Amino acid sequence: RTVYVNGDYVPESEARISVFDRGFLFADAIYEVAAVLDGKLVDFPAHLRRLHRSAGELGMRVDISDDALLDIHRTLVERNGIEQGQVYMQLTRGAADRDFAFDTDAMTPGLVLFTLKKELIDTPVARNGLKVVTIEDLRWGRCDIKTTQLLYPSLAKMQAKASGADDAWLVRDGHIMEGTSNNAFIVTSEGAIITRPLSNGILHGITRATLMEYAATTGVRIEERAFTVAEAHQAAEAFVTSASMFVGPVVSIDGINLSDGKPGPVATQLRQHYIAESR
Ligand code: PDD
Repeated sequence: RTVYVNGDYVPESEARISVFDRGFLFADAIYEVAAVLDGKLVDFPAHLRRLHRSAGELGMRVDISDDALLDIHRTLVERNGIEQGQVYMQLTRGAADRDFAFDTDAMTPGLVLFTLKKELIDTPVARNGLKVVTIEDLRWGRCDIKTTQLLYPSLAKMQAKASGADDAWLVRDGHIMEGTSNNAFIVTSEGAIITRPLSNGILHGITRATLMEYAATTGVRIEERAFTVAEAHQAAEAFVTSASMFVGPVVSIDGINLSDGKPGPVATQLRQHYIAESR
């Protein structure tokens, strides 16, 4: 694979970053994951907007233009022959002697991009759905910023897998926040979809926003409000959204089957609609 590191396209085995990069030492880094369908980027402008928002919230510099970022994405997709998969982009504050205090202006931001070939349409998740378990949300209070501080969600996912599930839904004050790397939705018996409103407590998912637009245009009722674990257990259906899964049907929560343990009709229809509109 060819990867991009601080201005250069290099084979992955030759890529080098500084051990003093604050992304590595302090998770002082932000990232975006954009899906690639039929060799084309999905929702790319929205990913750029979120990158700028994350950088702004952390006072991180983005020294490169949006056009140049798009060009790097397209070059990697082409060189690595990505028809379906994703592009990962990470921006770090830069490298300096290890110190909790930092001087952003004295550093050169670090920029790394790589691709992943991955089937996104005909997947086991689409066919069989996901089993999730609820786990306490112990992440920091700014989950709206897409930082690389991903240890807790990673451990939560491992805990879910150890219990025989596929992923965790993170819970704060009895309410579902989001999945470890996706936004959470439940569906009522009337076919309305419920998802919690945006706040500092969850990532402002791009797939979430696009999906809600599509739902609105097809007449699906949307309730943007917090929902409890008990409500999730009793939901008719559930699903998650992310750039890597699009819409992933959820078929069980804490061992309780939803929609007979199979992907539900609303989730399935929204998934098909999302994919059709994205290509
Ligand atoms: N994760 N919530 C969290 C905590 C996430 O990490 C993600 C994305 C989402 C969904 O956002 P979007 O629809 O913009 O992908 C929600 C990416 C895919 C990842 O970390 O791989």
